[in-house]
Amino acid sequence: MRSDFAGTTAQFYAEFRRDLPSDQADRLVAAVGLRPDDIALDLGCGTGQLAVPLAEHCAAVVAIDPEPDMLAGLRARRAERVVCVLGGDRDLPTLAVPFAAPLGLVTIGNALHWMDERSTLRTAAALLRPGGAVAVVTQGPPLWLGPAPWQRTVRQALESLYGPVTGNCRTDSSALEERRAMATELGLATEVLTWTASYPVTVDWVIGHLGSALGSDKLSRVEELRLLLEQLRDESMVEEVTTSVLVIRPGG
Ligand SMILES: C[S@@+](CC[C@H](N)C(=O)[O-])C[C@H]1O[C@@H](n2cnc3c(N)ncnc32)[C@H](O)[C@@H]1O
Repeated sequence: MRSDFAGTTAQFYAEFRRDLPSDQADRLVAAVGLRPDDIALDLGCGTGQLAVPLAEHCAAVVAIDPEPDMLAGLRARRAERVVCVLGGDRDLPTLAVPFAAPLGLVTIGNALHWMDERSTLRTAAALLRPGGAVAVVTQGPPLWLGPAPWQRTVRQALESLYGPVTGNCRTDSSALEERRAMATELGLATEVLTWTASYPVTVDWVIGHLGSALGSDKLSRVEELRLLLEQLRDESMVEEVTTSVLVIRPGG
């Protein structure tokens, strides 16, 4: 069975999902104490939105994803010091074996909701060197749930084609608090970092971004979506994105 991220979705993903901006990568690296000689692991790496910017700050990033088309998109970027591995959260315990040294950082970007959250956090924390950290990164709200008038138009267009739009991919504050409580119950220490960024967007970019989120069953109506969004063509549109990082360390 094809995953939700195969084929065209992965292609849209490579083109229309932003990397963590370099200033936020710098702040993340400083906050978690990632060292130039560290190996980091990015679980649910997609086409490298975290792995590529973080690879500039360490010896290597092991980028793991169960979807071959996502890994193909990442490989096509030819980023230095990024090693692609086909696998998922259930492979984490096995991955502990080939690492000669424990990890400085495990990142999970916009992907933990696809995994067994509790066991992933526990296993990821066990892979760290002393002083290392797990960083659960989310970026939200999803474009279609944002507060700007143009985002309301996007939401209405989606709902007219596909019905009620509710999924927030666990980018909200209640998911953050739930995960923080989960980590605390596991005996792990937590800290939350939050940064915001503003991005001017175009209708074509919005359609591409929606294409990366819709899944193959809904992509057949993407041209209808394009027609509905033509009304935004002359609008000045800015997307406000909040990055939240739940930093988790052993020893609560
Ligand atoms: C929404 S994308 C996030 C990609 C990227 N990390 C980012 O921040 O944009 C979610 C990714 O998680 C991957 N994924 C799905 N199930 C997974 C699992 N059980 N273990 C690891 N990754 C998984 C998908 O293939 C997809 O590439």
